[in-house]
Amino acid sequence: MRICPVAVAAVAGVAGICALASAPSAGRNGGMLATSQAGYAKPLAGELAGAGLVPREQGPGWVLCDGGSGRELPEPAFAWLRLPAPREFRGARINALGRQIADYLADSLRDERLETVWPCVWGGAGEIAGLTRRVTAVQKTFQDLLRRKLSRVARLARTGMPSGLGPVRGFFVCFTDFDRAFAAREAVLGGQRRMADDAAAPSRSYLKVEEAYGVLGAEPRPGETVADLGAAPGGWSYSAARRGARVVAVDNGPLKGGALGHPGIEHRREDAFRFRPAPGETFDWLFCDLVAEPHQVLRHLVAPWLERRWCRRFIINLKFGRVDPLGLLRELRMPASPFALNAADFRIRHLYHDREEFTVVGGLRP
Ligand SMILES: C[S@@+](CC[C@H](N)C(=O)[O-])C[C@H]1O[C@@H](n2cnc3c(N)ncnc32)[C@H](O)[C@@H]1O
Repeated sequence: MRICPVAVAAVAGVAGICALASAPSAGRNGGMLATSQAGYAKPLAGELAGAGLVPREQGPGWVLCDGGSGRELPEPAFAWLRLPAPREFRGARINALGRQIADYLADSLRDERLETVWPCVWGGAGEIAGLTRRVTAVQKTFQDLLRRKLSRVARLARTGMPSGLGPVRGFFVCFTDFDRAFAAREAVLGGQRRMADDAAAPSRSYLKVEEAYGVLGAEPRPGETVADLGAAPGGWSYSAARRGARVVAVDNGPLKGGALGHPGIEHRREDAFRFRPAPGETFDWLFCDLVAEPHQVLRHLVAPWLERRWCRRFIINLKFGRVDPLGLLRELRMPASPFALNAADFRIRHLYHDREEFTVVGGLRP
């Protein structure tokens, strides 16, 4: 199980368990551990290096950095989760590892009294076969210890990654291998999440837009209007229409599944680059998920839609399979990009459900 979207389970504790801060296999504090999709540690490392950190080591779905805690970074697109100043633990024996991690937590809680529920999230980076079982086994030792000694605090712990973005206080444990884990009292969340499928959704793309709403912090509401450019087979249109929005789905391809014949969806077989709102019309939402060269999409579609305020909010997916993703990221963040020029705020993410693509979400300045 991967550390970002799916928490394995949770428990918490406070001082009372003997502190082992000096245990031989407990490592350094400092720097930052960041996680990503399994195959994207290299661009994540590049992005972090571009932001001034010093990637020291990386593996499938994780990068360990020196040169800062990473708290100050402007939301790296590839990072799912950042653990500032993590403590490193190594050990082949399940019980010893679980005990060390529990002791570290207890020690860190010496001056803190927990009164309310709090996240305590365990998981593994990447997709190493069998790692989830290992995480679960070590976690069980940890939980047993804490329940025995600190039952009230253990009851306040919550399983599962908290929703939302940004810094969250709690306890976060990320395994990068069978005998290696990192733990931190704080995590910075990128907002990526694994979404539940819908049997009527006509494409897996549906999951991307459902996930994007969480990063944006808004979703289409009943009566709102959506222009969905490159809509077929209709996953994004279906997602908006099932929330009661009225969708114009622009694509020469056919709609399918729950999007086909949906009363909230008007299908127009037109070229997305030529589609324009009627004079005076503004869409509440621009959706764009075209399989097309990203610079073409930016120049000939995103720029006019944003400059002319033809929409209020946008969710735009840009494919980076044939371009340098880090170069594209830099362009998207430049002051002259259509997003920087026109959006009140925008976020770029490599979502849990994205492949070789970024999703950009935001709202326009009036
Ligand atoms: C990745 S699919 C979109 C999937 C969709 N978001 C969903 O949830 O089902 C990309 C779509 O872009 C469409 N497309 C590519 N170029 C287009 C263009 N110039 N005008 C309209 N549609 C276009 C393709 O026909 C294809 O259906």
